[in-house]
Amino acid sequence: MTIETVHLSRGGTSVVLEPHPYGLPALAYWGPDLGDIGDREVRSLAVAQHPQRVSGGIDVPARLTLLPLESAGWQGTPGLAGDRAGAHLYPRFTVVAMNRLAESAGVVIEARDDDVGLALSAHVGLTASGLLTQRLVLTNTGDDEYEVRALNLFFPLQHTAAEVLDTTGRHLRERSPQRHALTAGTYTRTSRRGRPGADATVLLAVGTPGFGFEHGRVQGVHLAWSGNQQVLVEKIPAGSSFLAAGEVLSAREMVLAPGESYSTPEAIGSWGDGLNELSGRFHRHLRSRATHPQRPRPVTLNTWEAVYFDLDLPRLLALADRAAALGVERFVLDDGWFRGRRDDTSSLGDWYVDETVWPEGLAPIIEHVRGLGMEFGLWFEPEMVNPDSDLARAHPEWILQPEGRLPLPGRQQQVLNLGNPDAYGYILERLDDILSANDIAYVKWDHNRDLLEAADAGTGHAAVHRHVVGLYRLLDELRRRHPHLEIESCASGGARVDLGILARTDRIWTSDCIDPIERLVNQKYTSLVVPPELLGMHVGGPVSHSTGRAHSLPFRAGTAVFGHYGIEWDISGLTEGEYAVLGRYVDLHRSWRADLHRGAVVHADLVDPAMDLRGIVSEDGRRALFGYSLTASSASYPPGPLAFPGLDPEALYEIRPAVPAEGHPGNGQSPLAWLQSALDGSPLRLPGKVLAQAGLQAPVLLPEQTLLIELRAVES
Ligand code: DGJ
Repeated sequence: MTIETVHLSRGGTSVVLEPHPYGLPALAYWGPDLGDIGDREVRSLAVAQHPQRVSGGIDVPARLTLLPLESAGWQGTPGLAGDRAGAHLYPRFTVVAMNRLAESAGVVIEARDDDVGLALSAHVGLTASGLLTQRLVLTNTGDDEYEVRALNLFFPLQHTAAEVLDTTGRHLRERSPQRHALTAGTYTRTSRRGRPGADATVLLAVGTPGFGFEHGRVQGVHLAWSGNQQVLVEKIPAGSSFLAAGEVLSAREMVLAPGESYSTPEAIGSWGDGLNELSGRFHRHLRSRATHPQRPRPVTLNTWEAVYFDLDLPRLLALADRAAALGVERFVLDDGWFRGRRDDTSSLGDWYVDETVWPEGLAPIIEHVRGLGMEFGLWFEPEMVNPDSDLARAHPEWILQPEGRLPLPGRQQQVLNLGNPDAYGYILERLDDILSANDIAYVKWDHNRDLLEAADAGTGHAAVHRHVVGLYRLLDELRRRHPHLEIESCASGGARVDLGILARTDRIWTSDCIDPIERLVNQKYTSLVVPPELLGMHVGGPVSHSTGRAHSLPFRAGTAVFGHYGIEWDISGLTEGEYAVLGRYVDLHRSWRADLHRGAVVHADLVDPAMDLRGIVSEDGRRALFGYSLTASSASYPPGPLAFPGLDPEALYEIRPAVPAEGHPGNGQSPLAWLQSALDGSPLRLPGKVLAQAGLQAPVLLPEQTLLIELRAVES
């Protein structure tokens, strides 16, 4: 069949796919919308990208295709690697069908190589927000087993790509940025932790030198998968640079019998002139999902850092009273409620309400919480088991393990094999039973260890892929049975932040560290992909439990206000003053959350690394809430101008502190007051374009203070 060059254009993005004589179409272009150009120009654009034949090279110069393979001269990271009967195969696919989806939303390409017995479907999509999505389905059409070792998805980089940004981290410090120059070779971020991991990059981005949030062309890719994976950027001297992503498969993990298929996770690419634009495409796309949480995100109190394992009923009831009076809307009982669980050494897997701690079941706490008008949420860690548990004693064969011994423990626990139908059935039954017997609106779904030697105890085969598929199935089934249930995905904080888990859950616990200094970084870089309404942000106690640093309440509360807001602090002993301040921030959040959870997230590129300005601008551009924070002492004193990105350039904004703010004790003025006093006490009024270009002088703050600034459009 004759295959045409395809131009997809949607949501400000264009993609051009050009037929390739030796395989799947070439990725001739991915970037800003090319506009309404004719077929001849599209073909010319594709041809204009053809590399010239050079000395010392293959006679057909290699090009990046949807599945680059040696059979088309490709010598970079291969699209597909696999074996049949002990022999490595070298497929050369022929495209046999190409179907365009309506409204330029994508194309599905069917290809085959009957000589090696493989068929392929390539799903290429453009979302309404301009994300490029890709997924491949590989089918074994041969007569014997075919083992898939790798199947990757590719994204071309523009010629300006020169600097790499990704995130790294650890428990309590997830998603710290790191940058380096793009040089020849391959830079790969791999997870073999059975989950993305605390050190995972939520996005691998490449852009112009020094690109920031407001400027510089940048492209990035994310893999929507909660298991082993890799994302990479490669620069080959004999060709251009590209991004790739795919699942990491162990030996014999993905063996296809005749007729069986393997579907890759979806890889999602975004671009922008600056990271604000790149991440906005992710946010708008996620918000357009039918499953995206629509109702206001309930302000939450989580008991973990408030009481840990001290689940004393009168203490919890008093905490609930105080929370409800503050305006909290959801009360979440964390770890420690189930049979035998008094600390973190035992009982995971024994999902029955503990009869000694809760002789009347959970009814007394749930009824109290519901009576106060709050929802009730409950913690589970369904994939895990302590060796010291009734479950592990009864079913040691349900634990992921190599033959004959357990893997090294993590937090004294092991992992259940959700690919095992009996283990899966038990966990489904236990959760379903507790959710059916109690008025529970919310589950905090935890996952507190990396996987090691994750093999099926029966077959000895690597089982991470099947475990993740089982996990997704379990979540889908629970949601089907309990359609109003919301689920939070937690993995020792943020060790499983990906769009695979977020397709089935309603928020992420972004980090176990709620020190605002650490959280400012964590929240900024998590929101490269995840919008704020899906990010759990809690106000902790005066001294951070994970860093030992002390911070004022306005700093703790003001830096958390942008996300899915909550409190994780024993508020029963607060002074009336503290209680009033905390309540003011709850009220502020509730009054702004409709805009905070639909609007555009913007971060300013400031020269001084101690200064941080971030905000959310409402969908209609009429309102914006910004947080200006000083994380250390500023280099200049006073610190200099702040320019506000993302506002409507033509609108006239009135600017005020959003809450009575802390000020620098040395100058005796509350922030912004000195500007107002120059205008006889009336608030500043400036057009969006002036705020973006000239800005205003940053108020003097102490290190570790934040000032929330509201901007509201007024008629001139
Ligand atoms: C780790 C989580 O991240 C915490 O928030 C808490 O739920 C503990 N697990 C409970 O064991």
